Amino acid sequence: MAGSGTAHLRDPGETLLRVEHLVVEFPVGRTGLKVHAVSDVSLDVKEGETLGLVGESGCGKSTTGKAIMQLPRPTVGLGGVRGHRPDALKGEELRRVRTRMKMIFQDPISSLNPRRKVEDIVAEGLRIWKVGSREEQQRKVDEMLLAVGLDPALQRGKRPYQFSGGQCQRISIARAVITDPKLIICDEPVSALDVSVQAQILNLLEEMKARYGLTLIFIAHDLAVVKNVSDRIVVMYLGKICEVGAPDVVYRQPAHPYTAALLAAIPVPDPDARPDERVHLGGEIPSPIAPPSGCRFRTRCPKAQERCAVRGARRSGRSRRASSPRATSRSPPGERLPTRNGQTV
Ligand SMILES: Nc1ncnc2c1ncn2[C@@H]1O[C@H](COP(=O)(O)OP(=O)(O)OP(=O)(O)O)[C@@H](O)[C@H]1O
Ligand code: SF4
Ligand SMILES: [Mg+2]
Repeated sequence: MAGSGTAHLRDPGETLLRVEHLVVEFPVGRTGLKVHAVSDVSLDVKEGETLGLVGESGCGKSTTGKAIMQLPRPTVGLGGVRGHRPDALKGEELRRVRTRMKMIFQDPISSLNPRRKVEDIVAEGLRIWKVGSREEQQRKVDEMLLAVGLDPALQRGKRPYQFSGGQCQRISIARAVITDPKLIICDEPVSALDVSVQAQILNLLEEMKARYGLTLIFIAHDLAVVKNVSDRIVVMYLGKICEVGAPDVVYRQPAHPYTAALLAAIPVPDPDARPDERVHLGGEIPSPIAPPSGCRFRTRCPKAQERCAVRGARRSGRSRRASSPRATSRSPPGERLPTRNGQTV
């Protein structure tokens, strides 16, 4: 079941970021209706870990990332980098805590101000927080440009339109890392790039992570990309988490039918592979304005049973924490008990 459990969360003392019961809803004009973009999502990330957040377009990946940054603040839910609770902060304090978390976006060119020079874009965080003298800031900018593979002497005076997409993503990474954040949320950082450049940027992110002691949340719709960079994977469907686990376990033995279908969608370079044997997703993603009752995946799940439609309704009277799924021998297939590495929630 695409669910609301917290059984997959680790001890709070072990994790850098912990998000519990995150809900983000957007009003639909004045109709009284709401887009249920993120519905009771709980996740955590250990220091130095890369968490891959994956799912089809519109499942709420970016909204989850932005809600962690409190941009905008979630409708309900708690979360924050260790020792800080952004949801409890306002104004100056909130802005300061946000410097510990940074976001890198999908479209590198439009995420950079076209009128500003690269040195000013990269130095922005230092200038806002008045970190160091002008000379120290300049030195730090040069160090960051070098670290992301750009020649400071040649590049610092140029503007974003004078760079390729891959180079712009390098500048975005330099801008994010310069203020010494703990956590970087990378929202589809390579989706807009050529395949050859994708590999370079993924390698760069790995290098920067090791060099600056970063923790990453890596958002992508492509399970193949996420597998290679993640220590743990969270699979989302229509605003909910379906499965959490170590990449090799999730890939080898997906516990949730949706994960199995996503894996089946990855092209296999084997002429003898028999596509008919793999699980394929039919139908469209339902509207997040009126998501299906019970398990949100049930309208497309090849293993759906009648009770998949009502289970959520039956649970709705219980407290959130108590609503973690309790699988039994009669549970539908996507609703197994959590396992040590791969879990449905
Ligand atoms: N500001 C907003 N106002 C209204 N609806 C929104 C807003 N932002 C996102 N949504 C809706 O919330 C849902 C989740 O959107 P989100 O951008 O988080 O998905 P996503 O998983 O990042 O998709 P993609 O892979 O296409 O980037 C979608 O139905 C989207 O239309
Ligand atoms: S079997 Fe039922 S509960 Fe499990 S994923 Fe399919 S629809 Fe959801
Ligand atoms: Mg997105």
